[in-house]
Amino acid sequence: MSEGTILVFNKGANAVVFGASGGIGHAMVTKLRRDERFDNVYCVTRNGEIQDDSTERTLQCDITNAESVQKCADALRNKIEQIDLLFIATGILHDDIVSPEKRLEDLSPEAMQHVFSVNTFAPVIVAKTFIPMMNTKHKSIIAALSARVGSIADNRLGGWHSYRASKAALNMYFKTLSIEMKRKNPNLILSLLHPGTTDTKLSKPFQKNVPEHKLFPPEQAVDHLYDVITGLEPDDSGKFYAWDGQLIEW
Ligand SMILES: NC(=O)c1ccc[n+]([C@@H]2O[C@H](COP(=O)([O-])OP(=O)(O)OC[C@H]3O[C@@H](n4cnc5c(N)ncnc54)[C@H](OP(=O)(O)O)[C@@H]3O)[C@@H](O)[C@H]2O)c1
Repeated sequence: MSEGTILVFNKGANAVVFGASGGIGHAMVTKLRRDERFDNVYCVTRNGEIQDDSTERTLQCDITNAESVQKCADALRNKIEQIDLLFIATGILHDDIVSPEKRLEDLSPEAMQHVFSVNTFAPVIVAKTFIPMMNTKHKSIIAALSARVGSIADNRLGGWHSYRASKAALNMYFKTLSIEMKRKNPNLILSLLHPGTTDTKLSKPFQKNVPEHKLFPPEQAVDHLYDVITGLEPDDSGKFYAWDGQLIEW
């Protein structure tokens, strides 16, 4: 990340947040709405609703269905010309279908498929579908939330097989896309971000051994992430950053 350079979104910028109902996604929407440089901050959620928000600024999308993602992009195209920041904050570690595997015996094809579908394929299809709407004249950013446990080099503890693998695969897709986009839209930055352990529904069952000072409230997590995002330059595209701006080994 280039020190001292700030990506200042121009006044009138547009942002779109996927996973706007989640802990981190919702905090990012709140932060961007307070930033007067953003004219429009659109929320995308699974059910098309978000607490305390007007329906005009919220779109429904099933991110695991490419047709639904395309319809969402088409609906947005009727509202805004281009996007300056696309923040993808969707993801699962556990839900009513899966919980993170502790050992070999826990692996099942259905759970593996489900985790990859939400954590890997969905953000890539969102990126693919929305890339034609990204600003080409000024720097623009697609930032997807990955996780440090998706680092293969950093995997010392094992466990959480599908979550780890789904994030490692997401990282590879984004890295590959970033190389292609350097030619097609050199102003576009594709970024993978680790928010740090953040107090949300996703981390709730696993917070027991996390020291208090290492568990960020979502508002603090998005302050960190926004600082990382605004410091990115086109040369940083395709890289994997932690909340404190440090590069994470693949
Ligand atoms: N919290 C942490 O400690 C931590 C650490 C490292 C990385 N991350 C990453 O940060 C991202 C955001 O997590 P979070 O902590 O904010 O979790 P969260 O509060 O559980 O939010 C997750 C978001 O993903 C959406 N989502 C889940 N399954 C979906 C599906 N099948 N289709 C569409 N949307 C779906 C949720 O929508 P609904 O509201 O409709 O369920 C929600 O908006 C994830 O990618 C996660 O891996 C989090």
